[in-house]
Amino acid sequence: MAADIKKLISEMTLEEKCSLLGGEDFWHTKAVERLGIKPFMMSDGPHGLRKQDDKADHLGINDSIKAVCFPAACATTSSFDRDLIHYMGDVIGRECQAENLSTVLGPAVCIKRSPLCGRTFEYMSEDPYLAGEMAAAYVNGVQKHHVGTSIKHYAANNQETARMSISAEASERALREIYLPAFEIAVRKAQPKTIMCSYNKINGVYSSENEWLLTKVLRDDWGFEGLVVTDWGAVNDRVKGVAAGLDLEMPGNTAGNDAMVVQAVRDGRLPEEKVDECVERILKVFFDFEDNREEQVFDREKDHEIAARIEEESAVLLENNGLLPLKPEGKYLYIGEFAEKPRYQGGGSSHINSFKIDSALEMSRAAGRNVDYIKGFPMDKDALFEEDLKKAVETAADYDAVVIFAGLPDIIESEGYDRADMKMPASQNKLIEAILEAVPGKVVIVLSNGAPVEVPWVDKGVALLEMYLGGEAVGQATDRILFGEVNPSGRLAETWPLKLSDNPSYLNFPGNARRVNYAEDVYVGYRYYDKKGMDVRYPFGYGLSYTTFEISNLRAEKEGFKDGETLKVFADVTNTGACTGKEVVQLYIADRTDKVDRPHQELKGFVKAELRPGETKTVEFEIDTRSLSYFDEDLSDWYAHTGKYLLLAGDSSRHLTASCEITFTTEKLLPLHLDVDTTIGELMADPRTAAVVQQMMTHRGALESNTDGISGDAEQDAAMSNAMMQYMPLKSLISFGVMDREQMESMLAMLRGVIG
Ligand code: BGC
Repeated sequence: MAADIKKLISEMTLEEKCSLLGGEDFWHTKAVERLGIKPFMMSDGPHGLRKQDDKADHLGINDSIKAVCFPAACATTSSFDRDLIHYMGDVIGRECQAENLSTVLGPAVCIKRSPLCGRTFEYMSEDPYLAGEMAAAYVNGVQKHHVGTSIKHYAANNQETARMSISAEASERALREIYLPAFEIAVRKAQPKTIMCSYNKINGVYSSENEWLLTKVLRDDWGFEGLVVTDWGAVNDRVKGVAAGLDLEMPGNTAGNDAMVVQAVRDGRLPEEKVDECVERILKVFFDFEDNREEQVFDREKDHEIAARIEEESAVLLENNGLLPLKPEGKYLYIGEFAEKPRYQGGGSSHINSFKIDSALEMSRAAGRNVDYIKGFPMDKDALFEEDLKKAVETAADYDAVVIFAGLPDIIESEGYDRADMKMPASQNKLIEAILEAVPGKVVIVLSNGAPVEVPWVDKGVALLEMYLGGEAVGQATDRILFGEVNPSGRLAETWPLKLSDNPSYLNFPGNARRVNYAEDVYVGYRYYDKKGMDVRYPFGYGLSYTTFEISNLRAEKEGFKDGETLKVFADVTNTGACTGKEVVQLYIADRTDKVDRPHQELKGFVKAELRPGETKTVEFEIDTRSLSYFDEDLSDWYAHTGKYLLLAGDSSRHLTASCEITFTTEKLLPLHLDVDTTIGELMADPRTAAVVQQMMTHRGALESNTDGISGDAEQDAAMSNAMMQYMPLKSLISFGVMDREQMESMLAMLRGVIG
């Protein structure tokens, strides 16, 4: 029967309450035996269980129980399939119930600001809408089973370098538009039971004691009802943390923090109600698990097969020179140790002790394919087996195709540090070039990596299949895609730049040990590349299929909508090729009001649809005011201007084949700050003051003298004068003798009266 939490709290001593604010050990919360409160266990996450018994650590070094390693988020997000990731969450939720785990520590949704971040593989996307939608689906899947999730790392933990101390320096607009919405969408759509705060500071304040982050934004603005837990060891000042809204410290009480909180309450520095609130939130989450235990069995064999199916939906076909799918009757040479020993997960706290591992080589042989294998290079270092290379070059022509299994060694991608560059190991590039020279047009490359890499050989004509870090069953998925039993349908959740220096964070990553400046502001990922019209290797949203699709006829249910309403939008998608496949129809919105500096277009909807050859389906989206809005720092809220917006649909941010224009209207006006620095342009643009200022312009003679006669054409002179006036602050009316200070004060008073 559900416990009366408030009553329990009223029966606790202050010491007991404060003891519950930290863990008992690495993975358990504390018990209060006399009141029947048990310890609860949590575990990493996100793509499988890392349940450790003894020798606990948070870096994935010591072993955990045998579990199923599902594909990492770099892969699953590429599926663009909410139902799929919901299902993965559902399976993980059941596993947690079977293993008595109250909470799984994930999903990880920090934005992929730079491809170099060591945990790019664990994070979802460069786009906050996509990351948020997928995270919400995962959370709902897990939490169906009353198992908690811990969406992490809140917030702006976009690098591993100095992650425990660095301050991410970002504008509020960049935080609200780019770095926070994935959390926000998950909170609004799925109410994760817990949120894990990040180690780093944001604009100088540790996340773990950041009231703006933990209370104002999270609870007041978004309505979060769960508990906030620290990243492991992320406490700076525990008392400040409690005051800011940080509920649970893990592993907990390492520096006598419980006693410090007790003392702060006794000294009157911290109201006891703050402690009560934290305890209540903590108990609610764990009692919900306790009250809803399910009889579940962790069927590893079954879940292994599910991991394979998930990966099949997530792999991205980047290039096809016509070789794929391979013909089942053909004879193939596999090269690269990755074929034999797949790299399928990243390093650090998400590291799973896999129950079993499928390699592509083993799976292809089990499926009866005619495959020979040469190691060529090791998977764990940058080295070449020259003898193997020689043999491969000499014999390559005997095969219908050579499939090179390439990728990044384990050591390159991990929690705790960042990559130094975007390159593949030189030995692999050398081998690929040599084989391409020996058998041009007959090379397939399968990649295993968690983040974009430079692919210098790609224009020489290859088939390129990106498996990302595809989980323990990646071998099965690879074999089935290579041989056409599955039609690839993943799409990139991140832009692949041509080279590292093209990336918008390049000049400001990873900062110095103290600060990293998010100088690119809201221009992250495709928002930057598209605005600048830069060439990229592969755009956001891109991916090929064994069939082809056409996206057309984008239309809205009506010409426009008003603030507070929603609008339905439809697009047609047709399979124009010869086999069944899945297309991801993406909806982007471009602000055409020209009132504020914004990205060229932003993703606001996506639907994955399966189509038989020749079949057409209509997909539906719904947009609202928020879909059109940017975060206005003056208003301190989201805002969309009245005017035109262009809706665009297509299969990547660079291939938008259908569009339609809509009109949006709002009665809301932005605040107008009135002082001597307010410009004439601002006053002219505001409907409340435009008419008054127009009148005032009868005095403009004195201001116009700068442009008189410059062009010799009265109309042009007037246009120049108007352009200059735009940025003229009111104080220039004094400087140019149009009015004195007293008149200025009364004019400001009059304008203030007008705007109310
Ligand atoms: C990681 C978290 C993880 C925690 C527990 C930390 O080092 O940043 O993502 O959940 O350890 O292992």
